[in-house]
Amino acid sequence: MNFLITGGAGFIGAALANQLVRAGHSVRALDDLSAGDNASLDARVLFTRGDVRDVPKLWGLLRGVDCVYHLAARVSVPESVLYPVEYNAVNVGGTVALMTAMRDAGVRRVILASSGAAYGEQTAQPVCENAVMHPTTPYAVSKLAAEYYVHAIGALSNIESVALRIFNAYGPQQQLPPSHAPVIPRFLQAALSGGSLVIFGDGKQSRDFVYLDDVVTALERAATAQNINRAIINIGSGADVTMDQLVDTIDALLQTQTHRLYNQEASAGVSRLVADISLAQKLLDWTPQISLRQGLAQILERDVRFQLAAS
Ligand SMILES: NC(=O)c1ccc[n+]([C@@H]2O[C@H](COP(=O)([O-])OP(=O)(O)OC[C@H]3O[C@@H](n4cnc5c(N)ncnc54)[C@H](O)[C@@H]3O)[C@@H](O)[C@H]2O)c1
Repeated sequence: MNFLITGGAGFIGAALANQLVRAGHSVRALDDLSAGDNASLDARVLFTRGDVRDVPKLWGLLRGVDCVYHLAARVSVPESVLYPVEYNAVNVGGTVALMTAMRDAGVRRVILASSGAAYGEQTAQPVCENAVMHPTTPYAVSKLAAEYYVHAIGALSNIESVALRIFNAYGPQQQLPPSHAPVIPRFLQAALSGGSLVIFGDGKQSRDFVYLDDVVTALERAATAQNINRAIINIGSGADVTMDQLVDTIDALLQTQTHRLYNQEASAGVSRLVADISLAQKLLDWTPQISLRQGLAQILERDVRFQLAAS
């Protein structure tokens, strides 16, 4: 098959692109490199630097494409609170631009990387796809709006659309920006360097961590699965882990005793978030294969940044 991946030089996009070319597919990747790095792409991936809102550029890239993965986005929840205009412009505007270009190019299917963050605070856990949504941050709102846009323009333009609500993905080569870094690489770095680790809130809030390779498999399955048009599907591990338990697991693996500082002033986000993954099992024949401990061990094995920090 012929694929276009927007955000194809990012953490999930590059892993997906490399897996698809290994499986014999033809892959184009579009990325503006605001966060991604095209050096991590297999040489067989055809890379173009550009903005996902550039419709004429998309027309060229979409020629002959069967299926689009839409991953290009600004991805930090706390950053979205500071820059909502930017998050709306890229995450919502980029989705509308892409859907417009796809309509013109006659592409068959789009798979959106949506987010479990869109649920917001939910009393019933694990959360099902039909929960009433309570997005509380600009990032969460932008992902929910993107879902509505892919499904609405998809239905109007005869494009099959699927949204995967990915929970907290983690794995090797995850971006580690100086501020607003995702928790797993941030905690690993602190544990390996022997410094203190800062936990926002009281450490009791929990998240559902899903390993990169499992996410890539779910995305791959979504390209060919039947009867998933207009579906919204949770992609998580199905198990939630508190921040304290996460540090315990890292410490057990590294045989460290990392000092924890609790920043009670900082927002810890929603108190609990765990995915009901029965729909993914049913529609994609997908279940996660990698436990948190195995996933963390694979990061230490495969990510040179942490090997250097450990040595
Ligand atoms: N990592 C997670 O835990 C997670 C969870 C849920 C959903 N998602 C979604 O999955 C997708 C990929 O996330 P990721 O973790 O790989 O993040 P990432 O930041 O590594 O990837 C996003 C990519 O999009 C690119 N990009 C940003 N703005 C762009 C623009 N205007 N035009 C073209 N490219 C642009 C960035 O350079 C980056 O390479 C995102 O849509 C994100 O919202 C990720």
